[in-house]
Amino acid sequence: MIQPSYQNLRHDQPEPGIHLVTIDRPKALNALDSATLAELARVVAGVAADAEARALLLTGGGTKAFVAGADISEMQALSPEQARSFSSRASRMFLDMEALPIPVIALVNGYALGGGCELALACDWIVAADNAVFGQPEVNLGIPPGFGGTQRLPRRIAPGKAMELLVTGRQVRADEAVAIGLANEKVAADALLARGVELARTIASKGPFAVRLVKQAWQRGQSLDLAQACAVESDLFGLAFSTADQKEGMRAFIEKRPPVFGGR
Ligand code: COA
Repeated sequence: MIQPSYQNLRHDQPEPGIHLVTIDRPKALNALDSATLAELARVVAGVAADAEARALLLTGGGTKAFVAGADISEMQALSPEQARSFSSRASRMFLDMEALPIPVIALVNGYALGGGCELALACDWIVAADNAVFGQPEVNLGIPPGFGGTQRLPRRIAPGKAMELLVTGRQVRADEAVAIGLANEKVAADALLARGVELARTIASKGPFAVRLVKQAWQRGQSLDLAQACAVESDLFGLAFSTADQKEGMRAFIEKRPPVFGGR
């Protein structure tokens, strides 16, 4: 596969099926400007097209920041219409990333503020380095969050806690992020990438089709009532029984050996 070149991010595959995207714009602490958002959209499209993909890891270059927000220099002079378009483009890209058929894990090193926190929230879950700092400081700039923060934060953590963070701009460190369910776990900063690869490797060892069905069931069920959502789950459960992986997984259990999944 020919890897397209990027200015503001790096795209690697540390192991087969494991995609690692590093936002790398050190002069602005990896802040998201239009160019970086466009590159993220391209890389997400590439991962979406990879039938062999098992997991996507998203992190920030350097040691100081995951992403320090949307780019304030670019936003400063936007007209209302341009600001709306900037927000819509970012939201579209975040929704596309969220809709990837594989698990997406944010490896948050340092600051994840504003658009950085929102980008992490658009991932399936977050692993926080011990130097991680999360927050939605947009109110300090006289604006509300525009990349989904007002919607995803109250869906990820307790709504009252989310409102507190959204309207005060208070920043939380890794321990508190874990305590409130924003991050799944805290690891030493120098172990963050290894932990991400370990998680991705665990995912990759499971039935690939089953993993995709889990994510699809969750995604499709979110906008439905419980009965409809469970019906979607039943359909996908049934679909799994058309795969060789289901036969292999269950045969391996009966034969007391590890399964060998082919992703079919
Ligand atoms: N947009 C554009 N540039 C940004 C940025 C952002 N969101 N965040 C940081 N930068 C730039 C700074 O302007 C600075 O550039 P300069 O060296 O040309 O002056 C560079 O990144 C380093 O940032 P600096 O503020 O000097 O680092 P610090 O360690 O003192 O502080 C932060 C780090 C993250 C606390 C601080 O940069 C900050 O508050 N950033 C904005 C966070 C924010 O409000 N995000 C939400 C935006 S909607």
